Amino acid sequence: MTPTELPAWQALANLAKGHAEPSDSTATATPSLRVGGLFADFSRQLVSQPVLSELLALAQQSKLADAIQAQLTGETINQSEGRAVLHSALRAPHQARPAAVADIIETESERLAAFVTAVRTNQWRGYTGKAIRQIVHIGIGGSHLGPELAYRALSKPTDPLQVTFLANLDGHAARDALHALDPETTLFIVVSKSFNTLETRMNASTARSWFIERTGDLNAIEQHFVAVTSNLEAAAEFGMPKENLFAMWDWVGGRYSLWSAVGLPLMLALGEAEFAQLLAGAHELDQHLAHAPFAENLPVLMALIGIYNYNFRGAESLAVLAYERRLALLPDYLQQLETESNGKSVDRDGNTVNYPTMPVLWGGEESIGQHSFHQLLHQGNRSFTADFIGTCVPDHEFADHHDWQLANMLAQAEAMQFGDDTEDPQRFVAGNHPTTTILLDALTPHTLGTLLALYEQKVFCQGILWNINSFDQWGVELGKKLADGIYPAIAGTQRLQNKGATSQSLIDHIISQSRSSTS
Ligand code: F6P
Repeated sequence: MTPTELPAWQALANLAKGHAEPSDSTATATPSLRVGGLFADFSRQLVSQPVLSELLALAQQSKLADAIQAQLTGETINQSEGRAVLHSALRAPHQARPAAVADIIETESERLAAFVTAVRTNQWRGYTGKAIRQIVHIGIGGSHLGPELAYRALSKPTDPLQVTFLANLDGHAARDALHALDPETTLFIVVSKSFNTLETRMNASTARSWFIERTGDLNAIEQHFVAVTSNLEAAAEFGMPKENLFAMWDWVGGRYSLWSAVGLPLMLALGEAEFAQLLAGAHELDQHLAHAPFAENLPVLMALIGIYNYNFRGAESLAVLAYERRLALLPDYLQQLETESNGKSVDRDGNTVNYPTMPVLWGGEESIGQHSFHQLLHQGNRSFTADFIGTCVPDHEFADHHDWQLANMLAQAEAMQFGDDTEDPQRFVAGNHPTTTILLDALTPHTLGTLLALYEQKVFCQGILWNINSFDQWGVELGKKLADGIYPAIAGTQRLQNKGATSQSLIDHIISQSRSSTS
């Protein structure tokens, strides 16, 4: 049965057609919920009691409880790649992990802990005997966004180890990352699950050449390059010493991998104890997902409300509005998590779906966005839903900044809810946009872990409700294949024809411009 054939889906369609929406926030049926240090308020959502009842029925009819159990116990739920999905095991205590993975996680965690201690206590030193002071993390996508988001959220400029992230293929990124480094005190961490990603391989090669040019010593690589990968062979071929390799496994998807050795730069910069808190915060959310009744289950409710907004109210995008500067990268991180997971148009059996799945996710750092794209949110004619994210207690002493920041967050949410019913059409603001507000007690490793796991598990639940596989990403392969074919034309060894004609004429233009700029 496709989701649209389920009785609850049809009932929801009828309710949405009949505008069974609360006319003001007091009629909204969805509760506010707390998990650990995270509080979510759904009272600005347009979900009436009958809608909520049918959404909960939809979860039952979609067998969501069985799917949650299957995920957490390690069944092969990524069918198109024949893999289990066990990132939750990485953040669970040893005794709570599925037996099949408990020991390998433990062994690798111990190796990581020993390495982190050695670097942080200056037992691991650079090739001239100096302590490591700078880390360069090389990776992209899931091998980048989580670590950089968490690093920006939790690090301080006074931390003894500073981390730079090198992700983009654009050579300006490598130039900017490398130019001020001291090779004697820098550690490069190359992170790639496949060890076959163009951006990461090129940036790692460039970093290695940069390093060898300055040290003149190939053996020095041993103290300055480590890798995190599931392709140990390719990493060894690249020249990484075997003992400098940390494992990833095929049952951890790239965009769900922050909790694994991919978090190594965080462990190094913040210390083991802080990283353990990040894991504990995420595990608390997993436990809540596993045990809370659906009517009080935060990721389940978030998923259901999202489905109502996208599939029944026609929301065309999800805006993530981070009223917390330290979470400025959250929209980018969630963009990969949500859209690479659920931006799909075939179901788990390979049938084309006849209902919308994940829409565009966008957003930004606030209050900066208020002076940019909020005009569109308030007076544009596209339907959207938004998540507001803020913290109750800041980590700075400028209390008035924080009060104004939160006043603005609440003001924007009110404006989106109620609009402005003025008679002047130029000033009219329609409102009636459903939004959720998420407040962290404070931004700590623990609450950040809970927040990120909340979105991960929401994405999982939505994938089940849409009957799609959230854990593959075949759509990204085509562009990679085409780039392999186009590269020889840019290098001038081949000309493109047929579908490549437009690309070839652009390449001709690029080549003529670069010749004239060098002549
Ligand atoms: O191209 C998309 C993708 O496969 C992501 O899913 C992944 O997180 C990223 O590339 C990086 O992959 P890897 O860790 O194998 O370098």
